[in-house]
Amino acid sequence: MKYAFPQDFWWGSASSAPQSEGESLSFGKSATIWDEWFRLQPERFNQQVGPQQTSDFYRCWRDDIALLKRLNHNSFRTSISWARLIPQGRGEVNPQAVAFYNQVIDEMLAQGITPFINLFHFDMPLAMQQQGGWESRAVVQAYAEFADVCFRLFGDRVKHWFTFNEPIVPVEGGYLYDFHYPNVVDFSRAATVAYHTMLAHALAVRNYRARGQDGEIGIILNLTPSYPRSANPADVQAANIADLMFNRSFLDPALRGSYPQELVALLRQHDQLPPCQAEDAALLAQGVVDLLGINYYQPRRIQCRDSLVNPDSPFMPEWFFSHYAMPGRKMNPYRGWEIYEKGIYDILTNLRENYGNPRCFISENGMGVEDERRFEQNGQIQDDYRIDFIREHLQWVHRGISEGSRCLGYHMWTFIDNWSWSNAYKNRYGFVQLDLASQQRTIKKSGEWFAATAAANGFEE
Ligand code: BG6
Repeated sequence: MKYAFPQDFWWGSASSAPQSEGESLSFGKSATIWDEWFRLQPERFNQQVGPQQTSDFYRCWRDDIALLKRLNHNSFRTSISWARLIPQGRGEVNPQAVAFYNQVIDEMLAQGITPFINLFHFDMPLAMQQQGGWESRAVVQAYAEFADVCFRLFGDRVKHWFTFNEPIVPVEGGYLYDFHYPNVVDFSRAATVAYHTMLAHALAVRNYRARGQDGEIGIILNLTPSYPRSANPADVQAANIADLMFNRSFLDPALRGSYPQELVALLRQHDQLPPCQAEDAALLAQGVVDLLGINYYQPRRIQCRDSLVNPDSPFMPEWFFSHYAMPGRKMNPYRGWEIYEKGIYDILTNLRENYGNPRCFISENGMGVEDERRFEQNGQIQDDYRIDFIREHLQWVHRGISEGSRCLGYHMWTFIDNWSWSNAYKNRYGFVQLDLASQQRTIKKSGEWFAATAAANGFEE
């Protein structure tokens, strides 16, 4: 076979508790920032569809796990909802949540599907946000306690843990660019949130290891290779700063246990360093992961700024670079994102050459499509565009592996079309089409293709 993958390669997909479970204010679960934002500003959500309207995994878990099996998944990622497990964020554990997650984990294992469990997917409990969210060190401690409860309750069966999914997204969305609650735009608060998130990560990693549970713990980062517009030193420097801000701000602590000196110097120069305590460096050093999840959707095309920064304007990453649309780039016509398959290989190469070739896997890659029903024929969505997208990315992953990258698997975003934050159901990503009104699930053509590819552990062309 031309594209054969290593034995035991992880084939699967990913979702998250807040995007699939539903029952977002019942069965003992308390509100997250998403319930609260939807309550305050439903008009900010596509078609005013909020976090209650999902594919109802809370009720349909058994059938959905059967569907995972039908799609030949050997692994699947979802998350544990902090606000469901510990409704006040700290303290009492919700027995209904324990029963639910036990059933899900046991059923996955019974079906031969390895559970990959993430602990935080943008879903800060409202009770914790009201205490300052990630701006507060007390919340860092509360998160570590939540993580520890998860390890204690489920760690006998879950052997692949992740502390965070895309930790930069709540920073960007909630504190820089106004697409998550609490809709703050303030770089220094964003920097504190980012820093505290990585302290929380390191605490959870340290505590997990102290338990000696014979599993592994990692983090899932959305990496966006930053390509300069030209070899002109100003463009190269601009791309380097974008890389520092958006990739290395999380990648370096996760893989090296410390922040890049260049980033620290830049933030110090602009008086934007978050408050640190003496013991932080030693803690961060303990947060080096066993396994890195890579979410890859699109690259960043960077050029130097064409105008001088007004020094009176609020400090923002864009002080140092501009984005540009590369002429001739390939676009996803149904979502507006660039498609650059080689980016996935460049990430693997960078990890191999500059980060000691860590154990990693592709934890998300996917193609969102608006109005996907237009591609339905005889009752099935004919998403050949998605098959091409996956195949072309996998070809580059295959090449990375053949050159020595330790990439252990490929998970697609996502399994069943799911609720996606304020975009709700605007962009559909699933292997399985969801009819929201009837809750009917229908496997798309890409789901069939993926099932065959997973069964064969590769593909011909
Ligand atoms: C990923 C997130 O970055 O993008 C998911 O981990 C999200 O939670 C997905 O749903 C798709 O986002 P969007 O904005 O295209 O719906």
